[in-house]
Amino acid sequence: MRIIYHGHSCFELKGTAHTVLIDPFIKGNALATHIKPQDFKEVDAILVSHGHRDHLGDTIEIANNTGAIVISVAELAKYCAGLGVKVHRMHIGGKHDFPFGTVKLTQAVHCSAIDVEGRSVYAGLACGFLINMDGFCLYHAGDTGLFGDMELIGRRNFIDLAMIPIGDNYVMGPEDAAYACKLLKAKEVIPMHFNTFPEINQDVSEFISLLKENAPEAKCIPMKPGETYEL
Ligand code: NI
Ligand code: MN
Repeated sequence: MRIIYHGHSCFELKGTAHTVLIDPFIKGNALATHIKPQDFKEVDAILVSHGHRDHLGDTIEIANNTGAIVISVAELAKYCAGLGVKVHRMHIGGKHDFPFGTVKLTQAVHCSAIDVEGRSVYAGLACGFLINMDGFCLYHAGDTGLFGDMELIGRRNFIDLAMIPIGDNYVMGPEDAAYACKLLKAKEVIPMHFNTFPEINQDVSEFISLLKENAPEAKCIPMKPGETYEL
């Protein structure tokens, strides 16, 4: 499976037969200068962790262009359905089989709202994703603070690759993110949600050294926007 990082929390998972996009924040993403929403041609599904602009992003445009199904918590999926795209509604703890694999929504300690003309419109709960695709188990934490049940997620899933926020301010910082990796026991870790805005600037080498201390078995895969990693 090829993992393409588009900066912030946006990942493109290219499996043998399907492509899944997570949190496609492209327009207005200072780290996504290598690609435009219209450049996505074949996308089967878009997973959206919550309604904030830096995650919902260009979901509607890409879903309209590609026919991708939008998968999210029920309230946010309902909002997207109202804009005319195909959706699948889920909620935390629930798992569903899709043609590309299975998706289970996990807890994320964060909130979810859609900005509609400067007002915050309720969008259900923020979530993370456990994805089983092409024999790999992936965990995208969404936006979240550190929580103890990451240990439970790690105990019940052999995570091949975890995508973990390290930006601090809105989400976990490097110290909590490294501790999260200890709880999750993921084999490989890609840090995300940093360096997009001034208040989430981080030196990724600090996270890498904290990861060595907290979860020495975990391998850090620091990715630059536009880079591809072969899992
Ligand atoms: Ni957020
Ligand atoms: Mn965010």
